[in-house]
Amino acid sequence: MHRQKYNQPIQILSDAMPEKIDPWSQDIKVKDYQKIREEFGIEDFGSMLSRISSPMLQMRRGIIFGHRDFGRVADAIRKKKKFVMLTGLMPSGKFHIGHKMVADEIIYLQEQGARTYVCVADIEAYNMRNQPLEQLRKTAIEEYLINYIALGLKPKNCDFYFQSQRSNDPERSNAYYRLIGMVSNRTTMNEMKAIYGELSPGKIVSVFTQVADILHPQLPEFEGACPVVVPVGVDQDPHIRLTRDIASRMKGNREFDFIPPSSFYHEFMPGLKGGKMSSSDPYSYIALTDGPKTVKEKIMKYAFSGGGNSIEEHRKHGGNPDVDVAYQMLYFMFEPDDRKIKKIRDEYSSGRMLTGELKQIAIEKINEFLEEHRKKREKARRLVPRFLKD
Ligand code: TRP
Repeated sequence: MHRQKYNQPIQILSDAMPEKIDPWSQDIKVKDYQKIREEFGIEDFGSMLSRISSPMLQMRRGIIFGHRDFGRVADAIRKKKKFVMLTGLMPSGKFHIGHKMVADEIIYLQEQGARTYVCVADIEAYNMRNQPLEQLRKTAIEEYLINYIALGLKPKNCDFYFQSQRSNDPERSNAYYRLIGMVSNRTTMNEMKAIYGELSPGKIVSVFTQVADILHPQLPEFEGACPVVVPVGVDQDPHIRLTRDIASRMKGNREFDFIPPSSFYHEFMPGLKGGKMSSSDPYSYIALTDGPKTVKEKIMKYAFSGGGNSIEEHRKHGGNPDVDVAYQMLYFMFEPDDRKIKKIRDEYSSGRMLTGELKQIAIEKINEFLEEHRKKREKARRLVPRFLKD
């Protein structure tokens, strides 16, 4: 059996180096999520499970591995009190199954009663990635918004906005831009350097814009002070830390009354070849527009296998599901049945199930989902204007 070169085995590599988090790096390598939690003081999500009546799949399975102050949001959900979910996206190329995980989180929280804010970080992308606003807007709508709608995002209680164009309501719009301009007086250059390392003008603008993205739902022009949760990849945690500090410091002055925002963090879904799933490499991801043949080819040819080098070896020692990308895709989202995924794991690790058989299951599951999704996407298009009217 041919063995693909495995670039960054997430679960195997582990050394004495501290984990680094850079929110602007396009190549995040996390070796050890436990270590990340310890280093940055992120809480284990496991202890939250008993406080949530219907946790989503990624919560149950430990893929959502950490949080800050999520208890406040869990309480709001249970007591049916007002709370906000806010997250942001950098529109970059094709919408793939890694992006779908964030979409699932957004939609789950909306179903739990969240006022839902989705920010298109077009100003950040303009400054940091040098792309024209028009193109960013188009990608945000054609790739992200349409797929979000097809996956279940509802226009009711949803505020989908662009950093470059907050709202047609001048009161709300002014309040947001005013806040971007004002949050800088609760931090220092030294604090920012300690959090982000090397800074640039573009990074500094992005930071204050993101701080305001996360805090502005609590302004009186929006929802007023209430719990806010920000679901993101852990690469965004530096922004969360700074925002929470700024929020507490602003509370003291009478102009603002912010509850420090909560967050939770998911692990990154591995790319097909084992490294990062990246929009710039079509053979690292499965796009939600990939056809059945493409999916089959990508999984068969490229998905890194945790199987033995020969059938004999595989039967004897079994496969390693923790590095096997087909298994990981099933575990992260495509086999929602906890009993079935456990059975697959057992069969594969014992060597009874071969790599080819495992890949076949993944191909079928993914194609089943994509076929349904294609139909939903066609209907989704009609709803787009309802998300853009503000
Ligand atoms: N910086 C985020 C990214 O790189 C995008 C973003 C902008 C964001 N504003 C936000 C994320 C607010 C969460 C909350 O993807």
